[in-house]
Amino acid sequence: MNTNNAKDFIPERTTVWDFPIRGDWATHKGDYRGNFAPQIARNVLLNYSSEGEMVLDPMCGSGTTLIEARLLNRNAIGYDINQNAVDITRARLAFDVFNSSQQRVERGDVRTLSALAENSIDLILTHPPYANIVKYSDNQNPDDLSSISSIHEFLDELEIGIRELYRVLKANR
Ligand SMILES: C[S@@+](CC[C@H](N)C(=O)[O-])C[C@H]1O[C@@H](n2cnc3c(N)ncnc32)[C@H](O)[C@@H]1O
Repeated sequence: MNTNNAKDFIPERTTVWDFPIRGDWATHKGDYRGNFAPQIARNVLLNYSSEGEMVLDPMCGSGTTLIEARLLNRNAIGYDINQNAVDITRARLAFDVFNSSQQRVERGDVRTLSALAENSIDLILTHPPYANIVKYSDNQNPDDLSSISSIHEFLDELEIGIRELYRVLKANR
């Protein structure tokens, strides 16, 4: 597996980030619709968290945040409403690293993270659906935010999720 490719990574120092080539190190692939370029997750993790801290991605898709957390020695929890995304993320986390960080992913809804205690997370890095422009559920799962056709309803439901994220995020993070 190509984990060395990340050695070419150059940390971003301004608010405009430009990646001419999408990173493909470790198990990253650009095959999940609307996934992060791994450089995005890497920049955010390096700038806003430290080794050993706990990172949450509650809409983790193909697991870009968790893969980078594993490579960078951050613990991480991932959730996604779609079992397909959970399965992809689990498969892509199955590689060896020389650190003791732990990552886990479960099926879950960003709006109800009852398994997580308040003030328990050091960094949240997530990437919601684009309203219903890209639909992530083939079977029209009503809990999938991308199945909501009204933009007002989408924003209301997303706000419920954001409030839940605020609950679990530690103060001043
Ligand atoms: C833009 S994608 C995330 C892509 C991810 N950053 C990556 O790099 O692969 C948005 C994800 O939100 C998930 N999602 C939609 N509604 C959700 C909900 N209520 N709770 C958790 N995840 C949800 C979708 O299944 C989809 O995987």
